Amino acid sequence: MIRIACVVLFAFALIFVGIQAVNLYDDLLPVGRMWETPAVRSHEQPLPVMAAGSVPWTGGEALYRTVDPETLQPPAPLDDPERIVRGARAYGFYCIHCHGPQFDGYGTVGQSFAPTPRDLRSAAVQALSPGKVFHEISYGIPDGRQPPLATTMSVDERWDVIAYIRSLGLRE
Ligand code: HEC
Repeated sequence: MIRIACVVLFAFALIFVGIQAVNLYDDLLPVGRMWETPAVRSHEQPLPVMAAGSVPWTGGEALYRTVDPETLQPPAPLDDPERIVRGARAYGFYCIHCHGPQFDGYGTVGQSFAPTPRDLRSAAVQALSPGKVFHEISYGIPDGRQPPLATTMSVDERWDVIAYIRSLGLRE
């Protein structure tokens, strides 16, 4: 009986010492435990304000937006095969659900539109200048339902997808 009592007592002592050791380790920890450190959720802190007069000095969305689409030139040739491959990938992310796998507007979402989204291999679309298409996918089409994707796609991705559409050519 005394033996059992001793074992139980020893076990309790061991647990007590263990807890104290962990506490001591915690107290001496130079950085806090994750649950103690401050967690900042989005919008809980004000965004840093830029100094007045700051302007982007490599292009910038505002420049693209204000420039005449017809004078807007792609930064590099659009027939670059690597760019076209990247464009195909971007099309799968940003366009296929509306314009469809056959580019004819019969995508999962597009087919519920009336009329369906423009056929990207039609003569009308294939004749558009790259700058014009850049503007349309970036800022939408006035009174149309093409979504403005400027805040969704990077500038490069937009040129990539334009290169891809042009590479498809006219529908036979
Ligand atoms: C929400 C569905 C939707 C998505 C996503 C979408 N489009 Fe469209 N798009 C449309 C519709 C609808 C039109 C027909 C014009 C209109 O009603 O605004 C259109 C028209 C167009 C046109 C023809 C413009 C013209 O002047 O005839 C082009 C080019 C185009 N889209 C390219 C794209 C590209 C490239 C993407 C992906 C980056 C894309 N669209 C994503 C719905 C969409």
